[in-house]
Amino acid sequence: MSNHETTEVPGGAKAVDPTDPNLTYREVLDEGLRRDEIEIVHYEPQFPVPGTKAEKRVERLVAFLLLLCGLAAIAFVVIYVSPLGQPKEYHFGTTAQDWFTPLLGFTLGLSLFAIGMAILVYGKKLLPHEIAIQQRHNDPSSPEDRALAAGTLGFIGSEFNIQRRPLIKGALGLGGLGLGAAAVAVPVGMLLKDPHKGPDDTDPYMTTGWNAQVFNDGKPVRMVLEDNTYVRPEDISTGGQITVFPGLPGGIGVTNEFADSPVLLIHLRDEDAQTLRDNLYKYPVNAEDGGSMWNNFVAYSKICTHAGCPASLYEQQTNRLLCPCHQSQFLITDNARPIFGPAARRLPMLAIGVDDEGYLFARRDFDVSVGPAYWERPSK
Ligand code: FES
Repeated sequence: MSNHETTEVPGGAKAVDPTDPNLTYREVLDEGLRRDEIEIVHYEPQFPVPGTKAEKRVERLVAFLLLLCGLAAIAFVVIYVSPLGQPKEYHFGTTAQDWFTPLLGFTLGLSLFAIGMAILVYGKKLLPHEIAIQQRHNDPSSPEDRALAAGTLGFIGSEFNIQRRPLIKGALGLGGLGLGAAAVAVPVGMLLKDPHKGPDDTDPYMTTGWNAQVFNDGKPVRMVLEDNTYVRPEDISTGGQITVFPGLPGGIGVTNEFADSPVLLIHLRDEDAQTLRDNLYKYPVNAEDGGSMWNNFVAYSKICTHAGCPASLYEQQTNRLLCPCHQSQFLITDNARPIFGPAARRLPMLAIGVDDEGYLFARRDFDVSVGPAYWERPSK
């Protein structure tokens, strides 16, 4: 007991001033217990004699788990920043890139599992066994009670006895370091590697499968159907529409890798096409020029500018394109202007043409980015 003032209280226990800085954690704890009418009915240290072989064994196990946590977390960081890169689509396989995502999950999972086990083993095997009984209190806590609570927490901290367990202390430092590094890896990773850089240093938000330079060796990208057959103008009757994809080598243009590239190709009636042609020159906001049509054919991104659903319910009498997710409607003859629902931007237009062999192709990639607006792109 430290040297401080005590007061005799009913029941024989000594009341102490919990704000006395000379009190030990244990003394503050005892005062708190007394005031809160808590009775400790069982208290038993797990290792009454410190430094036994059994205690050291448990310490080594905890230290091992903490080090495992740190190593796994560091492995996560190394894999995350490795040149393997994030694959666009997960394939089960044996190449290094196939292992990228599973290894990230495994290492981070192992790290969290290890620190969880370390805490569990420490609590179960090193902390004293204690059973306490407390009466319920309804009133708010007084400043004194808060001081007692702080003292109690201090006592719990001191019970961990980390000071006299240097192995666990060191392992905890290393493990925490690794786990901390894993926690900051993702935000820092964005600073190390520009997320706006795609293949050939292109901006992935502005590059779709219609980019001939990046994906087709500079050759114009033809339109294909889902079965990879090329599309001719005569394949679509007047007033009709079909979904087309970039015709890339190996048929990859119809895969998930180019999920931002589907386009709705529409064959307008003469008068509707003329209305659109007139409006294109007035509002060329979703294509760089007003000449992006081919005859009465026009192509718009199928990715809704609200939240990215496929907008493909085309009503040919009114020339409205409806997105089924939240009912946005785009008026095709007014250059895909949103006229109803939550979408705020026009659908991006794809400039199209017909090549010497009579197949439809994209003259260039979209002039504006496809899909929903985001903070770095104006909603026009
Ligand atoms: S995603 Fe199309 S309206 Fe919401």
